[in-house]
Amino acid sequence: MNMFAAFWRSTIGKKVVMAVTGVLMIAFVIGHVSGNLLVFRGAETFNRYAALLKGVGGLLWAARLGLLAALVLHVTAAYQLTRAAAAARPAGYARREPQVSTWASRTMRWGGMLLFVFIGLHLAQFTFGWFDHATFSETDAYSNVMVGFRNPWWVLFYEVSMVALGFHLFHGAWASVRSLGVARPSGHPLHRRIATLIAVGVWLAFSIIPLGVYAGIAKPAAGPDTTAALPAAAPPATP
Ligand code: HEM
Repeated sequence: MNMFAAFWRSTIGKKVVMAVTGVLMIAFVIGHVSGNLLVFRGAETFNRYAALLKGVGGLLWAARLGLLAALVLHVTAAYQLTRAAAAARPAGYARREPQVSTWASRTMRWGGMLLFVFIGLHLAQFTFGWFDHATFSETDAYSNVMVGFRNPWWVLFYEVSMVALGFHLFHGAWASVRSLGVARPSGHPLHRRIATLIAVGVWLAFSIIPLGVYAGIAKPAAGPDTTAALPAAAPPATP
């Protein structure tokens, strides 16, 4: 068995893979939410940003493939660790240690599954345009976001998913530091404060977007209204 296979088969190897892929995905969500907040600067800025990303061509595909590989490895390692833990202790713990029994840690599996479903639906919605066929535009990401978040069910789904993301990031950011062994033991660990900052920051920044769009705060700052194709914004028909 080669070195990598032996590493992957070990529990600590899987935990390290989960931590490294988790940190990569945290970096992605921080970048993604920073870019998405440009939606509040209007259609032109947001679409220019989306076009800039698409303009890097090969690099974008490399990042997409890297992200996909990270997601697959992260989910596979989580699944296999869960199976191994269940096989080793079918009855479960009668009482858990306070340190590992935070609300966030207990919601890791369900939250993780919700996020997996979220990512699938999110790509179907904004990358492939499978839900709002009639108005979806490859070149007008701003309009796609406006259309999506006019629907309260999408807003609700995003808000619930972002709570799961916040908890997942909190526990994940904190646990990854421990798995990688880069934190010194302390009563008030710095990594816990950093994990809180990342989780609350990302949750807040992502969750104000659907709500802001639904409430009408995010709209074109200047230039043509790219949402003009929508029923509510369409000009009255001439007799
Ligand atoms: C309010 C929250 C969010 C908004 C408004 C949003 C918006 C968007 C938009 C507009 C796109 C399509 C970009 C384009 O093709 O031009 C996109 C792609 C994507 N989003 Fe989000 N997003 C949100 C949350 C998230 C979260 C929480 C994740 C991950 C956990 C995520 C992961 C992705 C991924 C992986 C892509 C595909 C990137 C690509 O094709 O290169 N998004 N998002």
